[in-house]
This record gives sequence, structure tokens and C-alpha cells, in this order.
Amino acid sequence: MKKDDTHTDQYLDQLIARMSLEDKAKLISGRDAWSTHPIEEHNIPAMYLADGPHGLRKMANSKNATLQGSIPATCFPTASALGATWNLELIREIGAAIGRECQANNVQILLGPGLNIKRTPLNGRNFEYYSEDPYLSGKIAGAFTEGVQSQGVGACIKHFAANNQEHERMMHSINADERTLREIYMRGFEIAVKESAPWSMMCAYNKINGTWAGENEWLLTQVLRDEWGYEGFVVSDWGAVNNPDRAAQAGLNLEMPDNGFSAEKIIQAVKNGTLNEARLDHTLRPLLRIILKTSALKQENTTIDADAHHALAIRAAEESIVLLKNEDDILPLNENEMKSIAVLGRFAETPRFQGGGSSNVNAIKQENALDNIRKIVGENVAIHYLPLYESRGDKYEKSDLDAAVELAKKADIALVFIGLPDDFEAEGLDRIHMDIPESHKALVREVAAVQPHTVAILSNGAAVEIEEWERDVPAILEAWLSGQGSGAAVANILFGRANPSGKLGETFPLRLQHNPAHLYFPGEHRSVDYREGIFVGYRYYDTKSMEVMFPFGHGLSYTRFEYSNLTINKSEFSDNEVLKISLTVKNIGTQAGAEVVQVYVHDKASDAVRPVKELQAFQKIHLAEGKSQTIDFELDKRAFSYFHPEIKEWYAESGEFDILVGSSSRDIRLHATVTLNSSQEYKRVVDKYTPFRDIIHHPTGRPFVENILQSFGTSIDSDKPEDHEAKAIFLSLPLIKSVNFSHGNFSEEMLESLIADLNE
Ligand code: BGC
Repeated sequence: MKKDDTHTDQYLDQLIARMSLEDKAKLISGRDAWSTHPIEEHNIPAMYLADGPHGLRKMANSKNATLQGSIPATCFPTASALGATWNLELIREIGAAIGRECQANNVQILLGPGLNIKRTPLNGRNFEYYSEDPYLSGKIAGAFTEGVQSQGVGACIKHFAANNQEHERMMHSINADERTLREIYMRGFEIAVKESAPWSMMCAYNKINGTWAGENEWLLTQVLRDEWGYEGFVVSDWGAVNNPDRAAQAGLNLEMPDNGFSAEKIIQAVKNGTLNEARLDHTLRPLLRIILKTSALKQENTTIDADAHHALAIRAAEESIVLLKNEDDILPLNENEMKSIAVLGRFAETPRFQGGGSSNVNAIKQENALDNIRKIVGENVAIHYLPLYESRGDKYEKSDLDAAVELAKKADIALVFIGLPDDFEAEGLDRIHMDIPESHKALVREVAAVQPHTVAILSNGAAVEIEEWERDVPAILEAWLSGQGSGAAVANILFGRANPSGKLGETFPLRLQHNPAHLYFPGEHRSVDYREGIFVGYRYYDTKSMEVMFPFGHGLSYTRFEYSNLTINKSEFSDNEVLKISLTVKNIGTQAGAEVVQVYVHDKASDAVRPVKELQAFQKIHLAEGKSQTIDFELDKRAFSYFHPEIKEWYAESGEFDILVGSSSRDIRLHATVTLNSSQEYKRVVDKYTPFRDIIHHPTGRPFVENILQSFGTSIDSDKPEDHEAKAIFLSLPLIKSVNFSHGNFSEEMLESLIADLNE
């Protein structure tokens, strides 16, 4: 991470030394709902923070902590939609556009991106998170951060860490082993911190293994700062602090919002010695650095081009929409080949384009699909629209459904807009099932029964269960909650004005019960045990070879891509080297399109339990018809490593690995095998429960074991079939049994001395 040396540590330390304890306590405790305390005497200005993440939600009044009253801003697609673009350039552009809107509105910190992992489809806030995969999440969050910060505004990566459900989010402890935390729930944060140096991060509400995220020294100081080199500040999630002094001690730099009590508690803690003032000073430093930095980078009179941002919002929505299914190439539609279209479902007219809660943007503008379809088809095609269901809830009238069926029957095609209403998923509210409302299901079922040309357009923030009706419809578009441009983007995709290129950042399982976290969600007695461990999303479904509805990384296009020429610079490499991979992708269809090339790594044999494949690189390319492109990837040691629970380090094991290149996690087009010769040696400590088998390669161990085996009439190297079982039994015995079975000839002291030898 690049050091920000606008204000040196020395300068900041001198400034802090001049501040009174009262000033310091005020500064780390927030002024009101959205800003920090200015300290005029020392020329420290107030810093304004605002939500985030997919657009600016700045309150007209900074004391207003409610969800109403934010100023108008561009509403870009929410994170699940952005995650499906896999397009880092585009994400940077969006981050920059939001950063500009922050500059124009005097906001110094944007409270986003959100990069928690989608552990279960039921998390009500999944729409604010990118993916079930930490690598994809981390890369996208990093690109978003770079975009925001390119405008002189700080991003705030949240919610650190393991904030994966809304149920009891302020009460529960998530309990997971360190490997699971490091590989799944923290890796995205690690990538984004190391690659994009965020100026701020937000701690989660929950506890991790019994300690509040905001009071967790291991998380906030040992890992984040000491190991990852983070230099920004950490702000609490709003109201997450339980003990301000313990939080400051652990490394939390700012409590928000102001609660009227915390500053006094900090002062008392310093006075009574429970919080060391030097520690408080240390905690202040990163916060002060960013306050001064963002203040120096303020650009007065910044204006925004709302039309350009709207156009970007439409382009982003187009890239995020995933064509899940397209039998007989029913899409794209050709308006010249039809006379009438039935457009059914309220979301066509009143799109659900973002989620409820703190991220809800007061959108400058809104596109709906109905108007945009009308615009595209012109006057020669009749459009028949019926809303059928309500925006919220699950009510409909049978007579309306009958009317919708009648319209669909007579039309050339039926476009059915369905998904999840606002009250089914939102901040503070987990889903209770994975289904869409009955009113939406009835619509798609009954319409598809009379109209073979039915296209379902889904609007939802996370995977839904569709097994019940999926076979009835030839085409399905996943439109997510894709921002203020969503209606235009949907129409453009339906009529081929844009070619779909989104790919799922999350698996669509067949059923909720298949989700690996199902039995352990939402937990009990304020505890959520992550017993599925590292097997989250496709890591689970693919390792178990389970049938899924749509796999991770899946998404169709109106064109086709051919993969060839996989070359790898070395078939054997060491962990100090970078593996260079290249391949060619050709657009062999009849129109321009974009493909997301995905690189997975499979460890062929490991001492650890590992998923059958893990995403380690990807690239989105745009190709005109007939054109091809060579794509290069680099994989370093980390791409082959797992987090070793004993040595507590990322560990790259020697051995063979498959490099799998594909168009989805289940559509692998090219593969090759490489051998890693690792310099990292993991020497297991021998103890009295080490099996004989593990010491037979040791110069002292071998004769010892051989001696015992010979006394049982066999030997280490015997390949006689009749010795097979005896060898299996004896070699798997722990060393201590040499004492138990020795009739007093081999004492515990002798064993201890042998073990000491073996460990040398
Ligand atoms: C949310 C954060 C948000 C904050 C401020 C909290 O409830 O969890 O994501 O940034 O409120 O609105």
C-alpha cells in the first residue's frame, strides 16, 4: 500500500500533542449523524460522511439520521448487479461518478462499497454485496474504491467483517475458524485493502468469535494494520460501538454517529487509566490524516453532468443483466416480426431498481421498461400492459390474472416482470424463504401455459428459487436491482440494442435447502456457527457435484465465443515465480459481444480439505464479430495457497494443480496441469499421537518402526498381499502405543527421547 505522506506522522503527532484530551475525545466520537467535530483552534475541519454504496445518500440536514430526506443523486445498479458485470473498468467509472457527486455536495467519505460475502441467499442485504466469491468481491470493491478516491473522496469498505445476515445483526456472534475467516470472509477485504488502499473502512455490528468487530484488536489492529498495512481509519457502523474505550483500545478510530455520551466515557477512561492516552493518540492519527487529506482535496464548485451519469447508469445496468436462459434463441426480439406484445407485471412500469435501507438513493431520474419498450417498437406494435400485483406484498385478483392470460394468449409474445418486492428483502430484514411471491409465480405459470413465447424478467437482489416454473419459459433475464437506468437497459437487452454480458456472482441453487449454510442460519442463542466453513457457494455445490439451477459465473450472450491456445510459461514453477497464462478468445457469432473469461485453480492433492476449484483470475473482454483476442493472466503463489490453521499463514503446498479456464464455473473450456515446487516447508511437530506412518522417512524413525513391524512378522517395504492389513493397522497406530504394547520394554521416557530426536 502506498504511504500517504501529505501529512507526515511527525506532523500529525505534533498536532495531536497540542490537542487537549477533550478535543481528542470529541474528535473520535462524531459530531452528529453524519459529520465529525471541527476543532477550529487547530484548523481541523469537520469531515462529512454519507451513504453509499451505489449512489450518494446525503441528508439535506446532517442531524437527520432517518431514511427520508436525502438530496437527489444518480442511482447506479446495486452491488449484486455490479458484481455480475465482472468489469473493473466500468466499476471504476461508476466509483468516479459517485465520487464526483460527493465532491459536488461537499461529502468527504462515501460509505461504500459493501463487500460482505453472500453466505446464504436469505441475507436481506445481499443486494448490497457483490458475490459469494471473495476474489471477485475484493477485485470489484477495489476498483470501486479506486474510482471514488480518484475524485479526492474517500471510500469506506464495509462491513468488516463477516456481517452476513440481518437477523440479530447487532446482537449475535458469528463463530468461524480462522481458515474460514481468512479464505472466505476476510480475503476480499485483504485484496481491496492491499490493492486500492481505501481511506476508510467500517466495522461490522456483529461479534466475531465472541468479540465485537469494533472492539476486536486481532481484526482491527493485528490483521488489518500490522499484517495488511492499512493506513486509513476505521469507523464504526452506525451505533455499533458498545464500549467506546475498548473500541479505541482495539483500534477503532471513529465512532458514528455522535450519541452524546461516548466522548465523556473516553475522557473518564483515560483519567481512570483503562485507556492509555498514548493509545488514544495512536488511534487518532489515521483519522486526522484522512480529515486533513480530504479537506485539502476538496474541489469547490464541482458540478455534475446528470445526463452523462444517467447514461452510465444505463450502460452499467446493461452489463449487469444476466441472460440466464434463451432456448431456441428466442431473444433478442425483433420488433419488425410482431404485431402485439403483452407486458405483464407491475415491475415493468414501476421497476424495483434498488433496495430498502441506508443505501436507498433519491434517484434523479427513473427509467421503466414499459416506456422504453414502447419507444423501441414504435407505433406498429401494440403494447398491452397489466400490472397485476401490488408493488409490495403478495396480493392479486383472480380476475386480473385471467385478464393477463387473455392478453398473453392473443399477443405474439409475453414479457412477464416478476421478482422480489421491497418488503421481501431489505436492510434489517432477512428473507424467510427463497421464493418469489405467489402473485408473481401465478402470473408466470399461467401466462406460460398459454403463450409459448414467454420471457421472464426478474428483479431481485439475490438468488431466488425458480425450479417450479423455470421449465415453462424459454427465456429468463436476471435484471437484479439495477439502478435508475434498469428499465432502459432491460428494453435494450430484450430487443438486441445491447448484447447481454452479465455473469452470476452467486450460484442459483435448485432449492434453499441445498445452500450449505441452511442448517446453521440464522443461528440460535445469539450465535451463528459457520459450520459449513470454507464451503460457501460454488465451492460447496461444485465440490459436492450437486445439480444447481444456474452455476456461479454463468451468463449467456447473443453471440458465441471460442476458447483456444491455452499456454502457460512453465509446467513446473516455484512459489517465488509468477505463472503466466495466455489464451485466445474469438467471437464466432454474428454480432459484437463481451465475454468474461474465468480462471479457476484446482489442487489435485492436498493435506488440507480444499474446494474442487477456486476463482483466481478473470477478465472481461469486448469483441466485435469475427474478432479474436489474446488474453494474459498472471497467477502468483496466493492463487495456489490455503490458509494453514497451524502455522497461521497462507501456505502453498508442493504438488500438481489444474488450471481451468472457462466461461462459467461449470463450463470449463481449456485446462492444463502445472507442478508447484514450494519453498515453504511445513514440518509437522511429532508428538505421542503422531502415527508410525509419519515417521518412516526419518533416519531415526525408520529403524524404530521397522523393528516393531519385524516383530510382527512384516516389514515397511513388504509388498506381500497377506501383509497388507497388518501394515495398515500398525502404521496407523500412534507412537504412544509402542509403550502400551511393549510389556514394559519401552518406557514413556524412552518415547519422549525418541520424539525429541524426531523433532530435531
Ligand atoms: C448500515 C451502514 C450504513 C450506516 C449509515 C448502518 O445501519 O449498516 O451500512 O452505512 O447505517 O447509514
